[in-house]
Amino acid sequence: MTTAHVTGAARGIGRSIALRLARDGHDVAVSDLAGMAEALDDTRKEIEATGVRSVALHGDVSDPASVRALVQDTATELGSLDVFVANAGIAQTKALLDVTPEEYDTLHAVNGRGVFLCYTEAARQMIKQGTGGKIIGASSIAGHKGFGLLGIYSSTKFGVRALTQAAAQEWAEHGITVNAYCPGIVDTQMWVEVDHDLGEINGVGEGESMKAMAEGITLGRVSTGEDVAAYVSFLAGQDSNYMTGQAALIDGGMLFV
Ligand SMILES: NC(=O)c1ccc[n+]([C@@H]2O[C@H](COP(=O)([O-])OP(=O)(O)OC[C@H]3O[C@@H](n4cnc5c(N)ncnc54)[C@H](O)[C@@H]3O)[C@@H](O)[C@H]2O)c1
Repeated sequence: MTTAHVTGAARGIGRSIALRLARDGHDVAVSDLAGMAEALDDTRKEIEATGVRSVALHGDVSDPASVRALVQDTATELGSLDVFVANAGIAQTKALLDVTPEEYDTLHAVNGRGVFLCYTEAARQMIKQGTGGKIIGASSIAGHKGFGLLGIYSSTKFGVRALTQAAAQEWAEHGITVNAYCPGIVDTQMWVEVDHDLGEINGVGEGESMKAMAEGITLGRVSTGEDVAAYVSFLAGQDSNYMTGQAALIDGGMLFV
């Protein structure tokens, strides 16, 4: 039995990953911002209904003390930390010329520093345990290609790929693999908001921007959280043992790299 932690698990992709890892047989700690407590507790209950143990923790991934507590509380409550999924992230849809320095810092604090803090705190715990581990981060198609109107978001997701490559090299000697997942368009609250903001900028209605982007997907549909969770299940399990430092696209065929 291994123990996993998934951040940003109150909804969306994080929730799907947490439930999938539970079905795979991991005990799963879930965390999110304190304001998401009710939804997070629903995720915890659904995990426990699969027959594994869970704990719901509150914390902001951009805050060092918070992330330290998330890692320590997982190990204390569930016995160890073997898989850490740094999933939490935020988006912004804005032309570069309209982005303020404060907005730039906020995006990088959550998507960049947040992943750095999660990776390093998880690694410290796994090194202490001496039994290796799997560290997994959320990048994006926007981590492989800089998208107009998603410029700062894209820069944070390129950063996740860089951190993933460096961490993989630094922690291989401890038996830790580090990989990232790069979804395309996943039908979550984040995309509802991106679609709304793109619609306002481009003068098109709700759902139109998502529909236009979906037309370019080879497999002919947008992604579900479960599509992404299936790949994270592989990254969290033993079948991915000979893979590290990678950030593979799970996007239905949007980008070909
Ligand atoms: N939805 C997509 O199409 C898509 C595509 C590529 C990558 N991603 C990435 O996948 C991850 C999950 O995206 P999603 O679509 O499920 O988003 P979402 O907005 O539906 O859910 C994100 C969760 O993260 C939490 N969160 C936000 N800031 C946090 C913080 N500072 N500390 C802790 N938790 C925080 C939110 O409360 C929310 O529950 C993100 O990193 C996102 O960038 C999403």
